[in-house]
This record gives sequence, structure tokens and C-alpha cells, in this order.
Amino acid sequence: MNITVKIKRYDPDSGRKPHWDTFTLEADPNDRLVDVLNHIKWTRDGTLTYRRSCVHGVCGSDAMRINGRNMLACKVLVQDLGTKITIEPMLGFPIIKDLVLDMDPFFEKYEKVLPYLVNDEPAPASERLQTPEERARYDESTKCILCGACTGSCPSIWANPDWVGPASIVNAHRFIFDSRDRAGARRLNILSDRLGVWRCRTIFNCAEACPRGIPVTQTIEEVKRALIYGDTKGE
Ligand code: FES
Repeated sequence: MNITVKIKRYDPDSGRKPHWDTFTLEADPNDRLVDVLNHIKWTRDGTLTYRRSCVHGVCGSDAMRINGRNMLACKVLVQDLGTKITIEPMLGFPIIKDLVLDMDPFFEKYEKVLPYLVNDEPAPASERLQTPEERARYDESTKCILCGACTGSCPSIWANPDWVGPASIVNAHRFIFDSRDRAGARRLNILSDRLGVWRCRTIFNCAEACPRGIPVTQTIEEVKRALIYGDTKGE
């Protein structure tokens, strides 16, 4: 099929303002959008800059705004996008070049919520066991690949880039509800301040954008309820 791809370009070193470049090309309907980007870069304009690595929806490096919605370029087919495709960097992040974002602020906020298991109790002889029900409690939030699609779709982040954002809350949820963890209260304390969970306005953009199908808004609501009712463990 013949497609037209409009890509938002920006190179801070060039002195040029952000602008759009348009490419017309033949694509197979079953091509992924990342294949189209590769084709443009390899045959039309080698300066086009974007991230990709696994190209199988695992590493989370190619999240971008495609036809107005955040998606992974490697997980969407040309046939599902139509013949006119618009690609922009996700909103709410500083731009390094073209579709490459500065993810440092995103990962600083992620680190703030202690995204790892905390348990200083003596280790048992084999392993720290939990029941299937205890494991299921946080199953959805283990699926996050830190692509930033949820965070970059959130109007609360657009309004205040300092807000902790949905991805960090999902990763806090991952450990707050883990029966083996002992730092749930610390994480809830971090998330209770003015840049914490209460800035979520339950808009659901995050859940719609998540390429892993995580019910992000529900996850945030569970953290809010834990803050109100204190139903966590340890500390
Ligand atoms: S390139 Fe790894 S998720 Fe798309």
C-alpha cells in the first residue's frame, strides 16, 4: 500500500525550530511501523533519529505518539494505521532529537519509589515463599516495561512534569502489595506528598496507552486506597 508518513523533527543543535517532514513510500500492510521508520532512515534520510532495540514489544524503547496516541512502533502494523500516518515524540518529556526523549527525569522518579524488594529479615534456607493468591495480588504491575507510554499520555504530567507519574506508581504497586516486601509504608509515604498519587485525576489515558494492557488507573486507585485504609504489610 502507498502511505504518507509525517514525522515531527527537531534537532536542538541545528538552530531550526521543530518542523514536519513528509515521506511517501510503499509499505506492506503487515509491516510494523518500526519497519517503516527503518526504511526511511536507511533509504531516505539517515539523520532521522529514534530508539528501538528488541523490536518485539519487550524493551520499551520505541514508544512514540502515532496518529495522536502513544504506542510502541514495533507493536503496531501499518494496516491498522491507515494510509496517512503521523509520528511525534511523546508529550511531557524533554526532546533530545526527533523522536528520542530524555528519559532521565522519568527514571529519577522511578527510582524514588524504591522499585525493588526490601526485606532485611534473615533469609530462609530455600526461598521466601508466597501463595498463588499473594503472587496474583501484584501480577498486573509486574508487566511494566518502562516504555513511558502511560506517563507521556497523562495530562497531569503535561501540566506538571515534576509529578511522579503513572509508571512510577505502577512500579511502587508492584512491591507495595508483595507479601515478601517490608517497605510498603515507606513507598506510600513517598507517594502521599503533593507530587504523589493524588495528582492522578482518573483520566484513563494511561490505561489506554499501556502496550502491556496493565490497568494502570486501577493500579493507582489501589495505591490510593492503601494510603487511606493502610492495608499494607511490614514497617
Ligand atoms: S523496540 Fe523494544 S519494545 Fe519496541
